[in-house]
Amino acid sequence: MSLLDKIDKNRLPAHIAIIMDGNGRWAKARGLDRGEGHREGISAIRRVVDAASKASVRYLTLYAFSTENWSRPTEEVTGLMDLMVYAISRETPDLKKNGVRIRSIGDMSRLPEYARTALEECIRETAEGTGVTLVLALSYSSKWELATAAKKIAADAVKGVLQEKDIDEETLGNYLTTRGLPDPDLLIRTGGEQRISNFLLWQCAYAEFYFTGIFWPDFDEEALYEAILEYQGRERRYGKTSEQIKND
Ligand code: FPP
Repeated sequence: MSLLDKIDKNRLPAHIAIIMDGNGRWAKARGLDRGEGHREGISAIRRVVDAASKASVRYLTLYAFSTENWSRPTEEVTGLMDLMVYAISRETPDLKKNGVRIRSIGDMSRLPEYARTALEECIRETAEGTGVTLVLALSYSSKWELATAAKKIAADAVKGVLQEKDIDEETLGNYLTTRGLPDPDLLIRTGGEQRISNFLLWQCAYAEFYFTGIFWPDFDEEALYEAILEYQGRERRYGKTSEQIKND
């Protein structure tokens, strides 16, 4: 029985978010430069999008570039931007054919114009996709997102568009770049570290966390399915007792 067959299709995580870590260490271990690790990382993205589609996962969010990543050496930042543009331009026809819809979260205004244009083109081209929604977190960090939401809320309050009494969790959610997306059910981090690194702090309030030592370039279909199976073995209580959950 394959791992895919073992997955209970009635208890799938609707949304999986992944912190793709370990590209640099994967490359270093092979005596290669970090860019090679990122290039291999693209192959892993392709494998994981296919695997998620096969398992009927609805949303897959990938932490591709954090706000903090802007502080990496200029050549690495430029290399990552070029790689992203190359990958999305090359993959758009296949994404379209496979019904994958692309969306992005983060501060797109900080992307170089050529990268923003390529991304917007890919989002437009794949907008009709009815399969998995692939959310690219680019120039993203939760603290940036929450601070930006607070500013917008304050501006709308000053304009009188929003009343203080109307500000609740749902309102705040609607000011985030993830507006309209369900919260992640499962957060995977590859590469062996066990931290959240400013990623979807609000949205992961009740996500199940799964950490693996596998470096991102080695992450594959089986590794994704292992994570889903582990998730399916967990009891999600949302603050309730085990008995309450069983009687729900
Ligand atoms: C983490 O590994 C990985 C990244 C910071 C970048 C991941 C981005 C890609 C694979 C390309 C994105 C492209 C598209 C189309 C979305 P690391 O460099 O932090 O590895 P290390 O911890 O081993 O140094």
